[in-house]
Amino acid sequence: MRALLCTEFGPVSNLRVSEVPDPVPGDGEVLVRVEAAGLNYPDGLMVQGKYQVRPPLPFVPGMELAGVVEAVGKGVDAFVPGDPVMAVPGAGAFAERCVLPADQVLPRPASLPPDLAAASLLTHGTTLHALEDRARLRSGETLLVLGAGGGVGTAAVGIGKLLGAKVIAAASSAARLETCRRLGADFTVDYTTEDLRERVKFLTQGRGVDVVFDPVGGALSEAALRSTGWGGRFLVVGFAAGEIPRIPLNLALLNARSILGVYWGDWSRREPRKSADELSRIAAWICEKRLSPVVTARLGLSGVPGALEDLLARRAHGKLVVLPGGP
Ligand SMILES: NC(=O)c1ccc[n+]([C@@H]2O[C@H](COP(=O)([O-])OP(=O)(O)OC[C@H]3O[C@@H](n4cnc5c(N)ncnc54)[C@H](OP(=O)(O)O)[C@@H]3O)[C@@H](O)[C@H]2O)c1
Repeated sequence: MRALLCTEFGPVSNLRVSEVPDPVPGDGEVLVRVEAAGLNYPDGLMVQGKYQVRPPLPFVPGMELAGVVEAVGKGVDAFVPGDPVMAVPGAGAFAERCVLPADQVLPRPASLPPDLAAASLLTHGTTLHALEDRARLRSGETLLVLGAGGGVGTAAVGIGKLLGAKVIAAASSAARLETCRRLGADFTVDYTTEDLRERVKFLTQGRGVDVVFDPVGGALSEAALRSTGWGGRFLVVGFAAGEIPRIPLNLALLNARSILGVYWGDWSRREPRKSADELSRIAAWICEKRLSPVVTARLGLSGVPGALEDLLARRAHGKLVVLPGGP
């Protein structure tokens, strides 16, 4: 089969599409034909050896996938060949086939297309966990999303609206903010041309926001934390800007704010049932057209290195999806 191989940690341009032996499912494992796999910022970090997880070399990157069961190993009775499925293997998705333990595989509703499933697992899973389990976002509260035009950002705008929040989407370009408005954002801020704190103060009549969703880091984080009102919750999701901010702790004391870490991958391993339930809810919302993952590109395997470069260089928008059976 064809797979995108990482043979040494380094620039994403080193990744090569290669012929590798077809994987065979062992006991308790499932062989999935990958119909679609989502690209994520952490894929770009992982192939450079800069992510918290460093798989043994060589490895196939790709954290999330949707496809169809081709075969099952001994002892697997939850799936049969032909079942539509989805999964977050953490690595291995940028290939025509992927073997993974049956307990990591989730059924995919027949009406959920593979590209939308693959575009929604990691980003929407992270977001629902962050907003519901960590921040306890309530209907009617105000949510500020930074990097709102990116993968997790667009998910946070969509899920924030579904949970009944008033959403302020903040991003770096008119096109990204237009995407956010289409997803239902109530207000937008272009933080390259507007002062984030002043604009949030104006939009909230001085009260500040209840929750901040921050996948960006850098200088924006402190401004966003200062923009939360009494009892505000600040979600630390990622550092796409490359800089981990150092925050004066008096900002947590003032206004009785909480700074909450989000590590969806580890939480999912610790709480597999709850995580599976949340992914199933997300899948149902997409099927009901209450949630719309923003897929801006569908690529073949050979397009992945360039697309990861775009993600790392702030040129991507929404979600990029690989169709490994394509060109
Ligand atoms: N904690 C978790 O469990 C978890 C799970 C998934 C992802 N993450 C993290 O969340 C972050 C975003 O992931 P993603 O897949 O949504 O990425 P993405 O699609 O590239 O979105 C990141 C956004 O960050 C903004 N940004 C600002 N400076 C940037 C820079 N120098 N380079 C790239 N982007 C920059 C961009 O928006 P503007 O240009 O509009 O500012 C971009 O749209 C990553 O740090 C990732 O590791 C964390």
